[in-house]
Amino acid sequence: MNRPVVVVGSVNLDRVQTVATLPAPGATVHGTSFATFHGGKGANQAVAAARMGAPVHFLGAVGDDAEGARLRAALVADGIDVAGLRTLDGPTGFATILVADDGENVIVLEAGANGRLLPDHLDPSAFVGAAVALFQLEVPLATVRRGLELARAAGATTVLNAAPPVGADALPAELVDVLVVNATEAAALASSADALMRSADALASGADARDPAALLDALAARYATVVLTLGADGVAWARGAERGRRAARRVPVVDTTGAGDTFTGALVAGMAAGVPWGEALERATIAASLCVGVAGAQASIPRAADVDRVRGAG
Ligand code: RIB
Repeated sequence: MNRPVVVVGSVNLDRVQTVATLPAPGATVHGTSFATFHGGKGANQAVAAARMGAPVHFLGAVGDDAEGARLRAALVADGIDVAGLRTLDGPTGFATILVADDGENVIVLEAGANGRLLPDHLDPSAFVGAAVALFQLEVPLATVRRGLELARAAGATTVLNAAPPVGADALPAELVDVLVVNATEAAALASSADALMRSADALASGADARDPAALLDALAARYATVVLTLGADGVAWARGAERGRRAARRVPVVDTTGAGDTFTGALVAGMAAGVPWGEALERATIAASLCVGVAGAQASIPRAADVDRVRGAG
């Protein structure tokens, strides 16, 4: 049995409306469908890691309402250990999501119980023996910081998906072994004064701050390993002076919600299983490409066998 992955993060009920195109500010548009899905970046990434075969312990919070019970049951159904999932007074977190015909989305979060997950809610013993501890930023920064410290003390590899990126630069970079960000998140982090100062070569010379190579150089000055997800353009990574790139498969896109979470959870499952870095990235990239072909967050996350089938087909 592989050593476990610990995920500290959010749990949301996603209320999803589809629209032909995302409305401009001030516009009123008709939706074409409405559905609810199990979501939350933390829960989605935990599900992705579990479906790729990792033993997963989830630390987070739901409210004492019907949605909280439903979302807890969904994690249990995916074989995830929820001993560290608190039920707190008040409502569960939810997300309002608009998905356009081209698969792009906009998301508005209502933190609910996620916003009430405190540092003291994290049981230090949950990190003991973990191979990897995975964090996102839909729970309070102080809680993420405490989790990073506990994971570091327990000897786990720490992975931070800095999404959404607000406040990420306040977390000590030395507590983060692997940073996973998309281009928007990377640009937000790279524009922090510290990163800019240290990436003088890449950016001060006038390089495009959204150019993947410049973003990687900026962030690699702070973080040991950086993985930059680029949607249909695949993924780029930096580890010290090393740089790498992996293309994505071209697939029809139905809904991009949860694609980054699927990538991150699958990558972490590979890391925990000791899969070589290049193969872990390849499997994670395939998993994300399968996710975008199906609507919903957790509903669209593939299993290891699905990824193996695609790999086998070349
Ligand atoms: O990354 C997608 C997720 O972001 C959704 O499931 C939504 O809940 C928000 O957390």
